[in-house]
Amino acid sequence: MNKPRLRGDYSRAALDYSVEQDWAAYTSAEHALYRRLFERQSKLVPRYACPEWIAAIAGLDAALQIPDFDQVSKKLRARTGWRIVAVPGLIPDDAFFTHLANRRFPVTVWLRKPEEFDYIVEPDVFHDFFGHVPLLFDPVYADHLYEYGKGGLKAMRLDAVKMLARLYWYTIEFGLMKVGSGIRAYGAGLLSSGGELAYCVDDPRPHRRAFDVERIMRTEYRIDRYQDGYFVIDSFDQLMRETAPDFTPIYARLRGLAPFAADAA
Ligand SMILES: [Fe+2]
Repeated sequence: MNKPRLRGDYSRAALDYSVEQDWAAYTSAEHALYRRLFERQSKLVPRYACPEWIAAIAGLDAALQIPDFDQVSKKLRARTGWRIVAVPGLIPDDAFFTHLANRRFPVTVWLRKPEEFDYIVEPDVFHDFFGHVPLLFDPVYADHLYEYGKGGLKAMRLDAVKMLARLYWYTIEFGLMKVGSGIRAYGAGLLSSGGELAYCVDDPRPHRRAFDVERIMRTEYRIDRYQDGYFVIDSFDQLMRETAPDFTPIYARLRGLAPFAADAA
Protein backbone atom coordinates (compact mmCIF):
# COMPACT_ATOMS: atom_id res chain seq x y z
CA MET A 1 0.00 0.00 0.00
CA ASN A 2 2.96 2.31 0.34
CA LYS A 3 5.23 3.66 -2.34
CA PRO A 4 4.95 1.60 -5.50
CA ARG A 5 8.15 -0.29 -6.27
CA LEU A 6 7.14 -0.24 -9.88
CA ARG A 7 7.04 -3.90 -10.69
CA GLY A 8 3.91 -3.08 -12.67
CA ASP A 9 3.66 -0.54 -15.48
CA TYR A 10 2.56 2.73 -13.89
CA SER A 11 3.26 4.82 -16.99
CA ARG A 12 -0.33 4.69 -18.26
CA ALA A 13 -2.06 4.94 -14.89
CA ALA A 14 -4.59 7.68 -14.31
CA LEU A 15 -4.34 10.02 -11.32
CA ASP A 16 -6.27 7.50 -9.21
CA TYR A 17 -3.81 4.82 -10.38
CA SER A 18 -6.44 3.00 -12.43
CA VAL A 19 -5.47 1.40 -15.75
CA GLU A 20 -7.17 -0.61 -18.46
CA GLN A 21 -7.10 -4.31 -17.70
CA ASP A 22 -6.40 -5.06 -21.40
CA TRP A 23 -7.71 -8.59 -21.01
CA ALA A 24 -6.88 -9.56 -24.59
CA ALA A 25 -3.18 -9.04 -23.86
CA TYR A 26 -2.93 -11.94 -21.41
CA THR A 27 -1.11 -14.87 -23.01
CA SER A 28 -2.34 -18.46 -23.03
CA ALA A 29 0.62 -19.30 -20.77
CA GLU A 30 -0.62 -16.73 -18.24
CA HIS A 31 -4.15 -18.11 -18.33
CA ALA A 32 -2.71 -21.62 -17.86
CA LEU A 33 -0.64 -20.51 -14.86
CA TYR A 34 -3.67 -18.80 -13.32
CA ARG A 35 -5.65 -22.01 -13.88
CA ARG A 36 -2.99 -24.04 -12.06
CA LEU A 37 -3.05 -21.61 -9.13
CA PHE A 38 -6.83 -21.79 -9.03
CA GLU A 39 -6.79 -25.60 -9.11
CA ARG A 40 -4.33 -25.87 -6.26
CA GLN A 41 -6.35 -23.56 -4.02
CA SER A 42 -9.60 -25.21 -5.02
CA LYS A 43 -8.43 -28.41 -3.37
CA LEU A 44 -7.93 -26.54 -0.09
CA VAL A 45 -10.79 -24.07 0.15
CA PRO A 46 -13.65 -26.53 0.80
CA ARG A 47 -11.94 -27.40 4.06
CA TYR A 48 -10.35 -24.09 5.02
CA ALA A 49 -12.31 -21.14 3.58
CA CYS A 50 -15.24 -19.45 5.31
CA PRO A 51 -18.70 -20.30 3.94
CA GLU A 52 -19.29 -16.79 2.57
CA TRP A 53 -16.22 -17.07 0.34
CA ILE A 54 -17.15 -20.57 -0.83
CA ALA A 55 -20.68 -19.45 -1.71
CA ALA A 56 -19.42 -16.49 -3.73
CA ILE A 57 -16.69 -18.17 -5.78
CA ALA A 58 -19.22 -20.68 -7.09
CA GLY A 59 -21.04 -17.93 -8.99
CA LEU A 60 -17.95 -16.34 -10.49
CA ASP A 61 -16.96 -18.78 -13.20
CA ALA A 62 -13.35 -17.83 -12.58
CA ALA A 63 -11.60 -21.19 -12.66
CA LEU A 64 -10.38 -21.45 -16.21
CA GLN A 65 -8.83 -18.13 -17.11
CA ILE A 66 -7.87 -14.78 -15.65
CA PRO A 67 -11.23 -13.09 -15.13
CA ASP A 68 -12.41 -10.11 -17.13
CA PHE A 69 -12.84 -7.44 -14.45
CA ASP A 70 -15.68 -5.62 -16.25
CA GLN A 71 -17.78 -8.78 -16.43
CA VAL A 72 -17.30 -9.51 -12.75
CA SER A 73 -17.97 -5.87 -11.86
CA LYS A 74 -21.40 -6.10 -13.46
CA LYS A 75 -22.37 -8.95 -11.13
CA LEU A 76 -20.73 -7.26 -8.17
CA ARG A 77 -22.45 -3.92 -8.72
CA ALA A 78 -25.83 -5.62 -8.83
CA ARG A 79 -25.14 -7.41 -5.58
CA THR A 80 -23.30 -4.98 -3.27
CA GLY A 81 -22.60 -1.85 -5.33
CA TRP A 82 -18.87 -2.60 -5.60
CA ARG A 83 -16.80 -2.82 -8.74
CA ILE A 84 -13.25 -3.79 -9.59
CA VAL A 85 -10.79 -1.19 -10.72
CA ALA A 86 -7.66 -2.40 -12.50
CA VAL A 87 -4.36 -1.08 -11.09
CA PRO A 88 -0.69 -1.63 -12.03
CA GLY A 89 0.19 -3.00 -8.58
CA LEU A 90 0.51 -1.54 -5.11
CA ILE A 91 -0.80 1.99 -4.90
CA PRO A 92 -0.35 4.79 -2.34
CA ASP A 93 -2.55 4.83 0.76
CA ASP A 94 -4.65 7.84 -0.23
CA ALA A 95 -5.55 6.34 -3.62
CA PHE A 96 -6.25 2.96 -2.05
CA PHE A 97 -8.51 4.32 0.69
CA THR A 98 -10.32 6.58 -1.79
CA HIS A 99 -11.14 3.61 -4.02
CA LEU A 100 -12.51 1.60 -1.09
CA ALA A 101 -14.52 4.56 0.18
CA ASN A 102 -16.20 4.63 -3.24
CA ARG A 103 -16.83 0.89 -3.36
CA ARG A 104 -14.09 0.25 -5.88
CA PHE A 105 -11.66 -2.57 -5.18
CA PRO A 106 -8.21 -2.22 -6.78
CA VAL A 107 -7.04 -5.43 -8.45
CA THR A 108 -3.55 -5.76 -9.87
CA VAL A 109 -3.51 -6.59 -13.58
CA TRP A 110 -0.33 -8.64 -13.82
CA LEU A 111 0.16 -12.30 -12.94
CA ARG A 112 3.17 -13.73 -11.12
CA LYS A 113 5.90 -15.64 -12.98
CA PRO A 114 5.86 -19.48 -12.97
CA GLU A 115 8.83 -19.53 -10.56
CA GLU A 116 6.72 -17.54 -8.08
CA PHE A 117 4.01 -20.20 -8.00
CA ASP A 118 4.42 -20.84 -4.27
CA TYR A 119 5.40 -17.42 -3.02
CA ILE A 120 5.13 -13.87 -4.24
CA VAL A 121 6.13 -10.68 -2.44
CA GLU A 122 3.76 -8.21 -4.08
CA PRO A 123 0.10 -8.98 -4.65
CA ASP A 124 -0.72 -10.08 -8.20
CA VAL A 125 -4.02 -10.64 -10.01
CA PHE A 126 -4.38 -14.10 -8.50
CA HIS A 127 -4.03 -12.89 -4.91
CA ASP A 128 -6.21 -9.85 -5.45
CA PHE A 129 -8.95 -11.61 -7.35
CA PHE A 130 -9.09 -15.02 -5.71
CA GLY A 131 -8.44 -13.72 -2.21
CA HIS A 132 -10.41 -10.50 -2.11
CA VAL A 133 -13.10 -10.31 -4.76
CA PRO A 134 -15.43 -13.19 -3.74
CA LEU A 135 -16.07 -11.70 -0.30
CA LEU A 136 -17.13 -8.41 -1.87
CA PHE A 137 -20.30 -10.30 -2.76
CA ASP A 138 -21.14 -10.63 0.94
CA PRO A 139 -23.20 -7.57 1.93
CA VAL A 140 -21.82 -7.22 5.47
CA TYR A 141 -18.20 -7.72 4.44
CA ALA A 142 -18.71 -5.33 1.52
CA ASP A 143 -20.08 -2.65 3.85
CA HIS A 144 -17.22 -3.22 6.27
CA LEU A 145 -14.60 -2.68 3.58
CA TYR A 146 -16.35 0.50 2.46
CA GLU A 147 -16.27 1.77 6.06
CA TYR A 148 -12.62 0.76 6.29
CA GLY A 149 -11.87 2.96 3.28
CA LYS A 150 -13.53 5.95 4.88
CA GLY A 151 -11.70 5.14 8.11
CA GLY A 152 -8.44 5.06 6.17
CA LEU A 153 -8.90 8.58 4.86
CA LYS A 154 -9.65 9.71 8.40
CA ALA A 155 -6.61 7.86 9.77
CA MET A 156 -4.45 9.75 7.26
CA ARG A 157 -5.69 13.03 8.73
CA LEU A 158 -4.95 11.71 12.23
CA ASP A 159 -1.54 10.29 11.29
CA ALA A 160 -2.70 6.83 12.36
CA VAL A 161 -2.44 4.81 9.15
CA LYS A 162 0.13 2.46 10.64
CA MET A 163 -2.30 1.40 13.37
CA LEU A 164 -5.21 1.05 10.97
CA ALA A 165 -3.06 -0.92 8.52
CA ARG A 166 -2.54 -3.53 11.25
CA LEU A 167 -6.30 -3.96 11.42
CA TYR A 168 -6.39 -4.56 7.65
CA TRP A 169 -3.53 -7.03 7.97
CA TYR A 170 -5.06 -9.11 10.76
CA THR A 171 -8.57 -9.09 9.25
CA ILE A 172 -8.84 -8.50 5.51
CA GLU A 173 -5.52 -10.23 4.76
CA PHE A 174 -5.01 -12.78 7.55
CA GLY A 175 -8.30 -13.03 9.42
CA LEU A 176 -9.82 -16.23 10.74
CA MET A 177 -13.47 -16.88 11.53
CA LYS A 178 -15.13 -19.26 13.96
CA VAL A 179 -17.50 -21.54 12.06
CA GLY A 180 -19.42 -24.06 14.15
CA SER A 181 -16.85 -25.85 16.26
CA GLY A 182 -14.04 -25.11 13.83
CA ILE A 183 -12.02 -22.29 12.35
CA ARG A 184 -11.99 -21.05 8.77
CA ALA A 185 -10.01 -18.42 6.89
CA TYR A 186 -11.49 -15.26 5.39
CA GLY A 187 -8.27 -13.27 4.94
CA ALA A 188 -7.15 -12.91 1.33
CA GLY A 189 -3.49 -13.57 2.16
CA LEU A 190 -4.56 -16.94 3.54
CA LEU A 191 -7.12 -17.86 0.89
CA SER A 192 -4.61 -17.27 -1.90
CA SER A 193 -1.71 -19.04 -0.18
CA GLY A 194 -0.74 -22.59 -1.07
CA GLY A 195 0.87 -23.24 2.33
CA GLU A 196 -0.49 -20.86 4.95
CA LEU A 197 -4.15 -21.70 4.29
CA ALA A 198 -3.81 -25.13 5.90
CA TYR A 199 -1.24 -23.90 8.44
CA CYS A 200 -3.46 -21.15 9.84
CA VAL A 201 -6.23 -23.61 10.64
CA ASP A 202 -4.45 -26.90 11.39
CA ASP A 203 -1.02 -26.13 12.80
CA PRO A 204 -0.78 -26.09 16.60
CA ARG A 205 1.97 -23.44 16.70
CA PRO A 206 0.34 -20.08 15.91
CA HIS A 207 -1.79 -18.28 18.50
CA ARG A 208 -5.43 -17.86 17.63
CA ARG A 209 -6.78 -15.02 19.73
CA ALA A 210 -10.27 -13.66 19.93
CA PHE A 211 -10.80 -10.54 17.86
CA ASP A 212 -9.64 -7.45 19.76
CA VAL A 213 -9.40 -4.15 17.92
CA GLU A 214 -7.00 -2.47 20.33
CA ARG A 215 -4.65 -5.41 20.56
CA ILE A 216 -4.60 -5.73 16.79
CA MET A 217 -3.83 -2.06 16.28
CA ARG A 218 -0.97 -2.41 18.71
CA THR A 219 0.53 -5.54 17.15
CA GLU A 220 3.19 -5.43 14.47
CA TYR A 221 3.25 -7.95 11.64
CA ARG A 222 5.73 -9.69 9.38
CA ILE A 223 5.28 -9.85 5.64
CA ASP A 224 8.03 -12.39 4.96
CA ARG A 225 6.81 -15.51 6.75
CA TYR A 226 3.68 -17.23 8.05
CA GLN A 227 1.99 -15.27 10.82
CA ASP A 228 2.91 -15.99 14.43
CA GLY A 229 -0.68 -15.48 15.43
CA TYR A 230 -4.16 -14.83 14.07
CA PHE A 231 -7.25 -13.08 15.35
CA VAL A 232 -10.57 -14.91 15.13
CA ILE A 233 -13.91 -13.24 14.51
CA ASP A 234 -17.28 -14.83 15.21
CA SER A 235 -18.88 -13.38 12.11
CA PHE A 236 -18.68 -10.46 9.70
CA ASP A 237 -21.43 -8.87 11.80
CA GLN A 238 -19.03 -8.86 14.75
CA LEU A 239 -16.25 -7.40 12.60
CA MET A 240 -18.59 -4.66 11.41
CA ARG A 241 -19.92 -3.93 14.89
CA GLU A 242 -16.59 -3.80 16.68
CA THR A 243 -14.92 -1.63 14.08
CA ALA A 244 -17.82 0.82 13.91
CA PRO A 245 -16.83 3.12 16.82
CA ASP A 246 -14.68 6.19 16.25
CA PHE A 247 -11.04 5.07 16.52
CA THR A 248 -9.76 8.53 17.46
CA PRO A 249 -9.51 7.79 21.23
CA ILE A 250 -7.89 4.41 20.51
CA TYR A 251 -5.27 6.02 18.30
CA ALA A 252 -4.56 8.58 21.02
CA ARG A 253 -4.21 5.90 23.68
CA LEU A 254 -2.02 3.57 21.61
CA ARG A 255 0.28 6.32 20.43
CA GLY A 256 1.85 6.43 23.89
CA LEU A 257 2.34 2.65 24.14
CA ALA A 258 5.05 0.44 22.72
CA PRO A 259 3.66 -1.95 20.08
CA PHE A 260 3.62 -5.69 20.60
CA ALA A 261 6.12 -7.51 18.38
CA ALA A 262 4.73 -9.70 15.62
CA ASP A 263 5.62 -12.86 17.52
CA ALA A 264 3.27 -11.72 20.30
CA ALA A 265 0.33 -11.72 17.91
FE1 LIG B 1 -4.40 -8.41 -0.39
